[in-house]
Amino acid sequence: MKFFIDTADLDDIKEIKAMGMCDGVTTNPSLMAKAGRKDTDALLREICAVVQGPVSGEVTALDAEGMVAEGERLAGLDPHMVVKIPTTYEGLKAIAALSGKGIRVNATLVFSVNQALLVAKAGAAYVSPFVGRLDDVGEDGMQLISDIVEVYQNYEYDTEVIVASVRHPMHVVDSALLGADIATIPPQVIRKLVAHPLTDKGLAAFMADWDKLQGGQG
Ligand code: G3P
Repeated sequence: MKFFIDTADLDDIKEIKAMGMCDGVTTNPSLMAKAGRKDTDALLREICAVVQGPVSGEVTALDAEGMVAEGERLAGLDPHMVVKIPTTYEGLKAIAALSGKGIRVNATLVFSVNQALLVAKAGAAYVSPFVGRLDDVGEDGMQLISDIVEVYQNYEYDTEVIVASVRHPMHVVDSALLGADIATIPPQVIRKLVAHPLTDKGLAAFMADWDKLQGGQG
């Protein structure tokens, strides 16, 4: 299972990459705003240089022609760039056009099986269903992942499933059990994955016993 990091924070990316937990990065306009750098092209290039894997940058145009022009520019920044396109009617046209030119597209803001089916047919390299935002409105985000994985298997689509809007460690467990290709995980959730209270408790007991041995006679 591949881990992408859902952030535009270069320090977090460098740290998590050094641990071997970063196979790629996904950004969006909100994450770019959070990173606070106006030179977004330069930032994406720097992220690509660190990650040496797929890095998604999102278009902000809303019409197909604008999305294609912006997508071509983003793809030209670095060979690792993947163009993120919102899954709208105009977006679908742009996904087909960019994919037809050999540019890898990540179809984003996906909330239904039909949207996932359409973007696979249009040639998207990746699909990003947002599980956390579905959970937020009382729907079952992971059920959508299960359905998309099944549909893609039924028809042998090559489009890779990126579980997005991951909010907590159970989203990662469920993604792995369902066989999703990738989870794109915020840095704070990556850090939670390693934590277990029994690990901390066990380590504290080992250290206490070790200190007793060092302090004792003979
Ligand atoms: O990359 C997009 C997606 O992961 C957003 O997550 O937490 O803003 O719903 P969130």
